Amino acid sequence: MDETPFPHHGPLDPERVTGRDQETQELALHLRERRPVAVLGPRRFGKTSLLRHALWRLDQVEPLATIWVDLYGVASVADFAVRLDKALTAARGALREVLDTVAGGLSVRLGVLSVELRRAATRGPDPTAAAHDLLDVVVRAAGRERVVLALDEFADVTGVAGLDALLRTHLQHHYRDIGLVFAGSRPSMMRTLFTDKGRPFFGQAELLEVGPLTQEAVTALVHEGFARTSRRAGPVALRVVGFAGGHPQRCMLLADAAWQRTPEGEEATEDTWADALAAVRRNVDGPLVALYEELPAAQGRVLRAVARTGTPFAAAEARFHDLSNSSITLARDALVRDGHLGRSPEGKVSIVDPLFADWLRRTFP
Ligand SMILES: Nc1ncnc2c1ncn2[C@@H]1O[C@H](COP(=O)(O)OP(=O)(O)OP(=O)(O)O)[C@@H](O)[C@H]1O
Ligand SMILES: [Mg+2]
Repeated sequence: MDETPFPHHGPLDPERVTGRDQETQELALHLRERRPVAVLGPRRFGKTSLLRHALWRLDQVEPLATIWVDLYGVASVADFAVRLDKALTAARGALREVLDTVAGGLSVRLGVLSVELRRAATRGPDPTAAAHDLLDVVVRAAGRERVVLALDEFADVTGVAGLDALLRTHLQHHYRDIGLVFAGSRPSMMRTLFTDKGRPFFGQAELLEVGPLTQEAVTALVHEGFARTSRRAGPVALRVVGFAGGHPQRCMLLADAAWQRTPEGEEATEDTWADALAAVRRNVDGPLVALYEELPAAQGRVLRAVARTGTPFAAAEARFHDLSNSSITLARDALVRDGHLGRSPEGKVSIVDPLFADWLRRTFP
């Protein structure tokens, strides 16, 4: 059987990303002009894919090397230093040579930090000093090679006191030499990191919001994926859009389920779509129950109100819960902060994950 044209785990191959032309151009422009940029959007909206795609495209015009550090769940400065050390050790090609030369000149030994930091605190290196040493290697390398430092899941720096200040102190004088890009889920936290006066990175980066894919992009990618593998999508493209809006990962998951049920040489039908949707629902129901049960009760009720009426405050919902307006507001804000609800510029909230919204409507009609 062919490999699916609709992968839905992790970032896409950079050359496979479609429907993000405008964001790609904007991102590439900021990087070329050496203006730090922060890519933000809800979980699984294709931030990492977009970033890798933009870097791949830029590399074809002006070759560059990317140092990619994933800060997901970063727990301490030592943890950060180890991740950066690993990212530097993973470099290949021209960058490898430059990093080794620069590190040699600074007497910094790459690739040994994780072992050294595990030694007893009194004998091991100081994590903050180690982080500064490694950042020194990065900025000096950037003076010799075109380097982009990508800090993915950047919102997680908030879990480590002083880490964003450390990064800002070290990087701020080198914005002209290095391409700097931040990406992160939890959009409201990402926005706060760059727009709140009290934060070290206040005003330090252009914000680039990754929204849903357009209907045009989704229908094109569904038809193209079926056609490329000698099938026809029939009604599936429109069904996917109708169900998932432009949520990238959910569109791919649903399209894949329909594709799996369409034999080579054939065209998907309404039955194919119905089977696909039923199978996807069966697969996600368990995790969604668990997710719902972990939420505080008020948040669950607010989600139910939004799923049914499109707003947390609908009067018609009042008889289903006994929440005051202030508890509703608190719950809504927590849901926005944790990325379950998105908020439009006009302030209207919606459930980010269409499968979660669907589950809420099926479970609490
Ligand atoms: N441009 C795109 N077109 C179609 N599908 C996409 C696109 N970008 C992302 N996806 C889908 O979304 C999935 C997740 O993409 P990616 O890992 O880049 O998102 P992310 O926002 O970085 O996620 P996370 O919040 O987990 O870091 C991909 O596996 C793919 O199915
Ligand atoms: Mg990502």
